[in-house]
Amino acid sequence: MAQNGVAQSDRSSLHGQWSSRFAFVLAVSGSAVGLGNIWKFPYIAGQNGGGAFVLVYLFCVFCVGLPIMMSEVLLGRRGRRNPVSTMALLGEEESGTAAWGLVGASGAIAGFLILSFYSVIAGWTVAYIFKSMSGAFADPTAASVGAVFGSIAGSVEESGFWHTLFLGATIVLVALGVERGIERAVKFMMPALFIIMLVLLGYSMNMGEFERGFNFMFEPDFSKLSSQMILAAMGQAFFTLSIGMGAVMAYGAYLPQDASIVRTSFAVVCVDTAIAVLAGLVIFPIVFANDLDPTSGPGLIFQTLPLAFGQMPGGMYVAALFFLLLAFAALTSAISLMEPAVVWLMEVRDFSRPVAASLVGLVIWSLGFLTVLSFNTLSDFTFLKGTFFDNIDFLTSNIMLPLGGLAITVFCGWVMCTQSSVSELDPEAGSSYEIWRLLSRYVAPVALILVFLNAIGVFA
Ligand code: TRP
Repeated sequence: MAQNGVAQSDRSSLHGQWSSRFAFVLAVSGSAVGLGNIWKFPYIAGQNGGGAFVLVYLFCVFCVGLPIMMSEVLLGRRGRRNPVSTMALLGEEESGTAAWGLVGASGAIAGFLILSFYSVIAGWTVAYIFKSMSGAFADPTAASVGAVFGSIAGSVEESGFWHTLFLGATIVLVALGVERGIERAVKFMMPALFIIMLVLLGYSMNMGEFERGFNFMFEPDFSKLSSQMILAAMGQAFFTLSIGMGAVMAYGAYLPQDASIVRTSFAVVCVDTAIAVLAGLVIFPIVFANDLDPTSGPGLIFQTLPLAFGQMPGGMYVAALFFLLLAFAALTSAISLMEPAVVWLMEVRDFSRPVAASLVGLVIWSLGFLTVLSFNTLSDFTFLKGTFFDNIDFLTSNIMLPLGGLAITVFCGWVMCTQSSVSELDPEAGSSYEIWRLLSRYVAPVALILVFLNAIGVFA
């Protein structure tokens, strides 16, 4: 650090700071924990055959995702600007070219695209709060729950309405800014969500098919390994950790200089993984106990969880509370998807926060209708990977985020001089720096390149 004579960045951020290290961990976990853990992880794991996918996913999370998350925080804190300017500035400093700003720009675009579908799915969870309260899931059967789901996702008006409502809330929170909006929202919702997941776990452990659900998730069947499955696992690792597009970088810009990047990132990755695994352990036993299809896709949690709630005493209220918390978890993630583009507009075009948030929000809102329509009017309109939703999801999670991550890890591991990264990643921590460097320089880039080459059939 400074006493070693290694230059440390003395920039301060333009838009305030987290009130504490804990607030930062909360905010990044708030970004990481969301629909990716509870909605997406179970259905992607289900579609890709369970155990083998989970194993590859865990490797991707800890050996590729974790070091890249550290790198993103490191870059954010060093640049102290929006991700586009941060990458341009550090690129200039470390390698004499501001072209690295493109990484930030493509990340901001990925954020737009992700939020466009994210908001639609999150809208469904908001709809489910009201459905639960109205007794729609009393005495549920697989068929009745499926019908409720169909009436929401299948209707342009319903789905569009909830999408509008959710995105509107996101815009308001982003317009309010760092301290007031984001921190406050995350502080109470994360622990509450965790507790209710534990309650659900207790329920699914008692309902008979727990062992089958458990084995489905943890008994790898290696015949299920395929190049597309490995790509999906890598994509899911990026999606769930919120890395590869600059969201974590934007949050890192507000991190106090004395906070440990290694420890905070590790904490976030563990929390995120725990919640995803918990979600799987809750959902698969319910799937098997009710003869549902684990490969049924994006509707999976919406068609399984109400079955569990319906059989609990007071289930109506537990269900409403659960979907409320899930909507909150989605909200704290949605905020982080918008933040990079908004801060960029603020800094580059001098817009105020509310104006920038509204403009970005409007574009995302319009794009969202491609996803709304993918589950009804345009559900048969498929190309490349499927519907509009399938394509936007594939393009962002499986291509843009991993490519962004590759650029970030190459930049931190190979382009940036050692002194710069040492000075940010507390060198007192000793071996953790060495491990980070090994993962960043070799393991992560090689894994990413292999996954891409494999996916386009180079090894076939
Ligand atoms: N990680 C969030 C989730 O699992 C989604 C998310 C928030 C995200 N910010 C992101 C995904 C940035 C990719 C990039 O629900």
